Amino acid sequence: MIAIEGVGKRFSGRDGGAVQALEDVSLTVAPGEFVAVVGASGCGKSTLLRLIAGLVAPSAGRVAIDGAQVTGARTDTAMVFQAPTLLPWADVLKNVTFPMRLMRRAGPGTEDAARALLARAGLAGFEGRLPRELSGGMQQRVAICRALLQQPRILLMDEPFGALDALTREEMSLELLRLWTESPMAVVFVTHSISEAVLLADRVIVMSPRPGRVVDDVAIPLPRPRSFDQEGLPAFQAAARRIRDHIFRGQAARAAA
Ligand SMILES: Nc1ncnc2c1ncn2[C@@H]1O[C@H](COP(=O)(O)OP(=O)(O)O)[C@@H](O)[C@H]1O
Ligand SMILES: [Mg+2]
Repeated sequence: MIAIEGVGKRFSGRDGGAVQALEDVSLTVAPGEFVAVVGASGCGKSTLLRLIAGLVAPSAGRVAIDGAQVTGARTDTAMVFQAPTLLPWADVLKNVTFPMRLMRRAGPGTEDAARALLARAGLAGFEGRLPRELSGGMQQRVAICRALLQQPRILLMDEPFGALDALTREEMSLELLRLWTESPMAVVFVTHSISEAVLLADRVIVMSPRPGRVVDDVAIPLPRPRSFDQEGLPAFQAAARRIRDHIFRGQAARAAA
């Protein structure tokens, strides 16, 4: 469904210098698959998501969805950014329904569906609040509801739980898995938490430090539904160790350079 073929991304800096953020990245994601991406800060994870979302164009290679090259934002793709990006003047409910209204997909059931998602995210009673009246973690949960309401075929999530406390993070992880089971969407989930990646994903893509390349593609053979109890299983620990080894090898190589 998503096909990334030999993709490179180079940014030119203001001082004339250039940053090679990604180099020769190839990756495919099947319909309904849950893929996590892990790697050190600055290795190009956010850039990779922006390329899939059509928000930036590759400098080399090709990004395609269903065989068609991605040339801009698509209505079947939703993204949750690393920092919550809510409309400051609109209340929580209006923020969640905004893309649906923008795409003229809002119908009689849209508001009820939005309220139901907000309730599942622990935000019942906050529908009429403004973003500035919420904590960062609550704002991020609103942004997640906004993406899910669109019932996207492709959900791109950039460290979506980074601003949440540990308990809320666990709750939201399991809720995300429940929602994913209920509606068939491909998920590309960026995180710097190895255990979160293993808990959630069918496959974990490990990226090298800059320039980001794919150094491993680890299948997670754990049964679903997933639960935190599985963290004790040998298969969980073996996958986590394999990923951690790559990341520490990358860090050691950088320290030596
Ligand atoms: N718009 C941009 N202009 C210039 N450099 C950028 C831009 N976006 C990202 N970069 C650079 O590309 C590299 C990868 O960034 P990013 O994709 O945000 O990494 P990550 O999400 O893994 O932390 C970094 O060195 C970053 O500074
Ligand atoms: Mg990032």
